[in-house]
Amino acid sequence: MDRRKFLRTSGALCGLGLVGSTVMVEGCKKSSNSSSPQGPTVNFTLNLSQSTNAALNTAGGAVASNGVIVANDAGTYVAVAQACTHNGCSVGFSASSHSFVCPCHGASFDNSGNVTTGPATVALKKYTVTKSGNILTIAG
Ligand code: FES
Repeated sequence: MDRRKFLRTSGALCGLGLVGSTVMVEGCKKSSNSSSPQGPTVNFTLNLSQSTNAALNTAGGAVASNGVIVANDAGTYVAVAQACTHNGCSVGFSASSHSFVCPCHGASFDNSGNVTTGPATVALKKYTVTKSGNILTIAG
């Protein structure tokens, strides 16, 4: 296989998330000029008494809203940007590891949004969560 054909093939594999080796995944990275945590600027509320937010009443539950994923991490509310800094897939919350995990290429982030496993190299933006009665306010 010539170099051009190899690069075309590996690029397609990156897009499909089918690459099996660490070296190849590293080659799938989006280039970024910033190492600052990435995520939207938000200020919104979630009402814990509404059924759409009911998952947050249980440890390990999570709700995505406004580009942010909010999770109940063993009774403490945490929130980070939902879009993985590697290639934009939506991260989910793992209660067992108290972390956010990307289903596309396996990156993981601690409950403050810091990268713990690549291929992502940039942290997820962390948001402040305050609770007043049944209302969570997420801002940052
Ligand atoms: S998009 Fe690649 S690890 Fe998240």
